Amino acid sequence: MNEVIKNLVERRSIKKYKSDMVPDDLIDEVLKAGTYAPSGMNRQSPIIIAITNKEVRDKLSKLNAKIMGVDTDPFYGAPVVIVVLADKTVPTYIYDGSLVMENMMLAASSLGLGSCWIHRAKRRV
Ligand SMILES: Cc1cc2nc3c(=O)[nH]c(=O)nc-3n(C[C@H](O)[C@H](O)[C@H](O)COP(=O)(O)O)c2cc1C
Repeated sequence: MNEVIKNLVERRSIKKYKSDMVPDDLIDEVLKAGTYAPSGMNRQSPIIIAITNKEVRDKLSKLNAKIMGVDTDPFYGAPVVIVVLADKTVPTYIYDGSLVMENMMLAASSLGLGSCWIHRAKRRV
């Protein structure tokens, strides 16, 4: 197995996190990997937002928990929340956004960082 396939096989969704902040350079690497995801017609419409400010992160957690009707943290205590916005006017927006997500989850795993896709945060309009 080469390193890429090994990383792909070993990535797991992590549901418990240390509260220590992730170093900026590692966050940047993860974000960069997201920007290299392929997209339909190369539209590159997804927008990636990294939330590292604890106040904002906690507010988002509370809003998401409220939508779910629970009082637990949907982000499992992770200090960084990365939001991927996908443009609904682009026909391939779901695939484009999903590929960004997978690129970032694999990049995180390769850097020794845990990650988990949190679907409930999706805004329903
Ligand atoms: C589209 C999608 C939505 C998901 N939503 C959530 C979620 O809201 N909360 C959560 O804890 N895990 C979520 N997950 C993570 C899955 O539970 C996880 O990928 C699955 O159990 C397989 O585990 P693995 O990623 O370690 O292989 C989601 C995964 C995907 C692909």
